Amino acid sequence: MGFEYRNGSLHAEDVALEEIALRHGTPSYVYSRHSIESAYREYRDALAGRPALIAYSVKANPNLAVLGVMSRLGAGFDIVSGGELSRVIAAGGDPRKVVFSGVGKTEDEIAQALEAGILCLNVESGTELERVEAVAGRLGKTAPVAFRVNPDVDARTHPYISTGLKQNKFGVAYADAEALYRDAARRPHIRVVGIGCHIGSQLVSAGPFVAAAERMLALVQRLDKAGIALEHIDLGGGIGIRYKDEKLEPVAAFLDGALGMLAGRKETLIVDPGRSLVGNAGVLLTRIELVKHGEAKNFLVIDAAMNDLIRPALYNAWHEVLPVRNNDAPGAVYDVVGPVCETGDFLAHDRQLNAKAGDLLAVMSAGAYGMAMSSNYNSRPRAAEVLVDGNCEWLVRTREKVAELFAMERVLP
Ligand code: LLP
Repeated sequence: MGFEYRNGSLHAEDVALEEIALRHGTPSYVYSRHSIESAYREYRDALAGRPALIAYSVKANPNLAVLGVMSRLGAGFDIVSGGELSRVIAAGGDPRKVVFSGVGKTEDEIAQALEAGILCLNVESGTELERVEAVAGRLGKTAPVAFRVNPDVDARTHPYISTGLKQNKFGVAYADAEALYRDAARRPHIRVVGIGCHIGSQLVSAGPFVAAAERMLALVQRLDKAGIALEHIDLGGGIGIRYKDEKLEPVAAFLDGALGMLAGRKETLIVDPGRSLVGNAGVLLTRIELVKHGEAKNFLVIDAAMNDLIRPALYNAWHEVLPVRNNDAPGAVYDVVGPVCETGDFLAHDRQLNAKAGDLLAVMSAGAYGMAMSSNYNSRPRAAEVLVDGNCEWLVRTREKVAELFAMERVLP
């Protein structure tokens, strides 16, 4: 399953990455359907026996084919923009399983969500509640609403992807939540349906996730007493994946802690995982353009760059780099870099690789926040995307053409 060597050649399921490179070129993102499905099943199994919704976090990988796979598995979707909602619908996803988070939803986005009939808007401030009510009133609708509550729990992850601390911009303050619920419950165009939180991403231990669940449950019990009943409790996403040697607790360890607390309660449990469903289901396939021996370092200059995968530059993230054709020769120590004009344009530092110009490399664990965060910096067309299913491969996004990059621009007369 997933990615493994067969006769020394790295495969995506039953298809050799060498073949994919020949047919579709490089750089290309390659995804394994089987890996996505097995990651989803891990959640489904852990949640068996309790009303639950796995709402895939679209931002991790919004390719329509990926959304389609999720939709067929029965997933819901966690979105943060009207654009993501349009994608979910285009991919055949069910809007009634969509939760919409984000600190700055525009009036148009709120209207789009209400027209589509989504499950819930996760409201992140009192001012946003007023905005949602105004839009719902104008449309003659009632908006289903949850508050995203900031539990003030340290997720112990990279500061850029930590979201559940007081100083972060996300959610309403824990201390204000009850008053906001009372206010919301009185509003004619608002229907209070749930509560949500999300403390951060790439969590490796269950502790902070369970601590947040505990804080949420205490609040739910207070709301019970105030006569405010909820239909769902959304604990967010954030469960990490193994990039290198992280000692990661299994998905079940995260969820069991929460499930134990929720035993006997009837609310639907929602989780919104992104990375843990698709991260290890994708690689960035790239070719070495040339080998450069610098004064202090050796470089493999590849045809992918920070515009294709920005995680190393942005978070100093570590991604494994594997030769597509396996070999045991020791080689040398290289920095793996792209052609973009920035010193931050690297995909890996100090890797022992036996490689030469023309060889293929696979940057592993690139299925989440890879293509999703790519750009056209340096006027580089974005990579192709290929989804492998057994021995079938599907080109699910064609490589961009340079002319398309400036097709929406004009030269002054
Ligand atoms: N729910 C909410 C409200 C979120 O903000 C996020 C991610 C998720 C769910 C999904 O989190 P996940 O299960 O994927 O950890 N670009 C960064 C990650 C940013 C995550 C933002 N929020 C990276 O490449 O590491």
